[in-house]
Amino acid sequence: MKGKILVTGGTGYIGSHTVVELQNVGFDVVIVDDLSNSTAAVVNQIEEITGKRPAFHQFNLQNLELLGKFFKECKGIDAVIHFAAFKAVGESVQKPMNYYRNNLVSLINLFECMENAGVNNLVFSSSCTVYGQPEHLPVTEQTPRQTAESPYGNTKIVCEDIIKDYTHANPKIQAIALRYFNPIGAHPSALIGELPNGIPNNLVPFVAQTAAGIRPQLSVFGNDYDTPDGSCIRDYINVVDLAKAHVISIGRLLDQKNESAFEFFNVGTGKGVSVLELLNAFEKATGQKVNYKIVGRRAGDIEQIYADTTKANSVLGWKSVATLEETLLSAWNWEQRIRIKG
Ligand code: UFG
Repeated sequence: MKGKILVTGGTGYIGSHTVVELQNVGFDVVIVDDLSNSTAAVVNQIEEITGKRPAFHQFNLQNLELLGKFFKECKGIDAVIHFAAFKAVGESVQKPMNYYRNNLVSLINLFECMENAGVNNLVFSSSCTVYGQPEHLPVTEQTPRQTAESPYGNTKIVCEDIIKDYTHANPKIQAIALRYFNPIGAHPSALIGELPNGIPNNLVPFVAQTAAGIRPQLSVFGNDYDTPDGSCIRDYINVVDLAKAHVISIGRLLDQKNESAFEFFNVGTGKGVSVLELLNAFEKATGQKVNYKIVGRRAGDIEQIYADTTKANSVLGWKSVATLEETLLSAWNWEQRIRIKG
């Protein structure tokens, strides 16, 4: 496919995997990232995987002047994939203003500059967090959104609303929001993956670090939920499969196949997996024992959520293909590689 795609947050976890998949099908990629939660070395790794070095610019999208200058100098952008955002749920409760300022202002600045530069297509990183704890499972795109549990979750809801209102007022602008379930795993090359800052909050990086001996023990947050084994249920989506959903969404916008100015899709596997099932699958896939203990519930956790992916399957023609075991093995291979490299 031909075209030039701006990927904000392109050195981050999902962003870097998406840059690889975009380049694999022939897109030119320009990354803008402030490296607040990633490193410039990721650009080298992307080059090693794809044989092509994406252009890279380091700045924060809150800086409207720099962003405007960037769009003036970097001509011919066909579409933007907007990953750049803060994403730590707990931190967002401590520092809500940082989250609102960064996540909302970045999107607003991006739209302003896109409009000035005549760039009409946007794919946005949303999250299943917008559904809260739904009454009925699996969740479809029609499932009502709920009041967010955290400022982070609220930024996803408000950003979706900004996109809805903006595309309504500016019919030239077309957007797709992808509502990710729980992205996990790493590129099969083990050259890129998730690089958690300090002690991981998310389950799979914590599991991998525990298996690697970096953490003495995993805490399983609760076994008294109303689920078959008592632990929480999530829909764990392979990060490469997720990256491919972005490439398809870009193709849909560029080919003008979208049915409305703002579309949104659930991106998950459609399968609910409990924390204990995931641990079991990790041990089976990697042959590593994970030392864990059951502790109390974590504040703010929902009991269970998994996607109905019918819309993404039928409208986008996208489906997750990786098995849970192979995805967990990729997370383990990545963990070992970063451990070896230090
Ligand atoms: N868990 C543990 N122990 C840990 C970490 C997690 O038992 O050390 C459990 C959690 O209680 C939860 C499951 O593993 O049941 C998954 O937890 P994660 O922190 O990996 O993911 P969450 O579902 O809490 O959050 C993810 C994203 C958020 C997003 C949310 C949407 O990290 O950005 O999904 O539901 F908002």
